[in-house]
Amino acid sequence: MSVAAGQRAMRVLIVGGGGREHALARAISTSKLLSALFCAPGNPGTARLGTNLPIAVTDIAGLVDAAVQEKIDLVVVGPEGPLVAGLADKLAAAGIACFGPSAAAAELEGSKTFTKILADTAGIPTAAWARFTDADAAIAYVRQMGAPIVVKADGLAAGKGVVVAADIGEAERAIGEIMRDRVLGDAGSSVVIEACLVGDEISLFALCDGVNCVLLGAAQDHKRIGDGDTGPNTGGMGAISPPVGFDLAAQEAALDVFVRPALQEMAARGTPFRGFLFAGLMLTADGPKLIEYNVRLGDPEAQTLLARLSGDLLAALAACSQGRLAGVRFDLANCFAVSVVVAARGYPGRPVAGGAVGNLEGNGARPDVTVFHAGTAMVDGQLVAAGGRVLTVTATAATLADARTKAYQLVGEIAYGDAVYRHDIGARAERRLRETT
Ligand code: AMP
Ligand code: GLY
Repeated sequence: MSVAAGQRAMRVLIVGGGGREHALARAISTSKLLSALFCAPGNPGTARLGTNLPIAVTDIAGLVDAAVQEKIDLVVVGPEGPLVAGLADKLAAAGIACFGPSAAAAELEGSKTFTKILADTAGIPTAAWARFTDADAAIAYVRQMGAPIVVKADGLAAGKGVVVAADIGEAERAIGEIMRDRVLGDAGSSVVIEACLVGDEISLFALCDGVNCVLLGAAQDHKRIGDGDTGPNTGGMGAISPPVGFDLAAQEAALDVFVRPALQEMAARGTPFRGFLFAGLMLTADGPKLIEYNVRLGDPEAQTLLARLSGDLLAALAACSQGRLAGVRFDLANCFAVSVVVAARGYPGRPVAGGAVGNLEGNGARPDVTVFHAGTAMVDGQLVAAGGRVLTVTATAATLADARTKAYQLVGEIAYGDAVYRHDIGARAERRLRETT
């Protein structure tokens, strides 16, 4: 990665407290440009890299006040919530640069209908769809279309708003729960119903300055809780990077199809998109299709991608937030990264809290393996579990097989009695690599 010279020392605030934010903090903490690092609220992992500020990501006014008080030069936002709530706009009004989109541009993640209309307008390939504000009409439509079919609450639902229905009964139940029972609150006042896409799902990441974009890289998440992609969807149980079967040339080509037209359309509407754009793509037999946009990095994709990054992330983010993206390039090491999420028993429903977590270093020093904190807390000097996804263990190696082995070795050595994790992160990709080489 290269960047224009002449940058001054920077005070940076990272918003969020998960594994993604720990990975951002770790990458930014190595920057030559950094003079002080803050995280709000952060976690015990980020506490070792900077100063944690006890401010919730929902407290927009509190975050802006802290940024002013700490004379922050750049705010880097991890999760979508504060962006959709207008954090970047409020920071701009206070004269503080933010890496992350305005509320208007964050609609790309905040509303499924917004994204589907944008995709159709800009000619971006995506699944055929229809939107309904009436449950009876939605049910009539799924009966007409047949299964499998996908039912989505229109608004933000923290990853719980999508049901991939294998039969019509399941689709009807989902519509009833979302629209009539309002199990997701106002996010369910309308639904988007989509054709079901079949293929491998990948996450593509670009840095965008409102006009231009550069490729950050791609990763493959493992969303279901159980081995073999079984059980309910989660925030993500593990990831690999690069994904198998979607090489650098394919990633660059995908920017032209899924990112640049979206940026153009957003700019033309007067709501340019600045920040990380995450395109969720399905690699169908018909070519890649857009599933959704997110206006942020993924978790655990960020831990996985940033493990391969060489160069100064902060310099790139600073250049991008000033609209100087033209000189920026990312170099990802030519290696594999594998992340395994260690969650608390009961996740994603009701994770048990409070279990002691220890031996994070494992039984020996491992330079290529990193443990990122997410749902952890320090209570009376003891690290304990305090969330659904507790840790992410990320390893890099020249081969996918070695990266998997290294990550799982450390996962097995961590002392945490309530741990649940998938045993097959990267296993399917490894089989594919064996079959094709
Ligand atoms: P989301 O909550 O929007 O991230 O969607 C959750 C997951 O639902 C996605 O990651 C996909 O695995 C799946 N999904 C969403 N839309 C479709 C679709 N049209 N076809 C198949 N799977 C989908
Ligand atoms: N791991 C998927 C996401 O962050 O949305």
